[in-house]
Amino acid sequence: DRRIKIAPSILSADFANFGAECRAIEAQGCDWVHVDVMDGHFVPNLTFGPATCAAIRPHIKGVMDVHLMIAPVDPYIEAFAAAGADVITAHLEAGPHVHRTLQAIRGTGRKAGLALNPGTPIGAVEHLLDLLDLVCVMTVNPGFGGQKFIESQVDKVRALRAMIGDRPIHIEIDGGVTPETAPLVVAAGADVLVAGSAVFKGGSVDNPAPYGANIRAI
Ligand code: DX5
Ligand code: ZN
Repeated sequence: DRRIKIAPSILSADFANFGAECRAIEAQGCDWVHVDVMDGHFVPNLTFGPATCAAIRPHIKGVMDVHLMIAPVDPYIEAFAAAGADVITAHLEAGPHVHRTLQAIRGTGRKAGLALNPGTPIGAVEHLLDLLDLVCVMTVNPGFGGQKFIESQVDKVRALRAMIGDRPIHIEIDGGVTPETAPLVVAAGADVLVAGSAVFKGGSVDNPAPYGANIRAI
């Protein structure tokens, strides 16, 4: 399914209201819900873990897309699967045994994603294609919402699309996605657009209409 899917990142939501925020963005027309897990080690910020994912799961009807910015990642895969993640994305840079990590994610029955930091070339993906359901191209350095889109990643998306061809592997873009940058990555072959600040700006659970307008503008 190569239709463009918008995946709001709840990193930009009200942390005291995750359940209501997830219901609001789905009611406003988003496709997936993107959940950013940070460990204060792999990235210089901390968010939450599998218990929070399990708590918000009943508030999401569609796909819960869990982006793990943690190292090590293998010890926690089972917990995020049990928390109800549909897609579990680990970072290529998180450890030396990424093939094993992807096997472990697939072993839980969940879809397996691999995220690449901006400085990481796509070559390392080539021998992992059989194990992948999604590749996430980071268009900011991971750790924080609201950063500026890194333009040099557009060529990387195009090269990745050429490598993937017609295999059923999503290309997800994460970081700095706005109505201005989204067309660049869609033209280059991306089909899942994560957006945090661009979706949540101007709205709230009490005034969710801006979420819908923001989603449609992307
Ligand atoms: C960054 C996270 C992103 C982030 C995107 O480390 O992985 O998902 O929340 O936020 P925006 O869309 O504001 O760049
Ligand atoms: Zn993310």
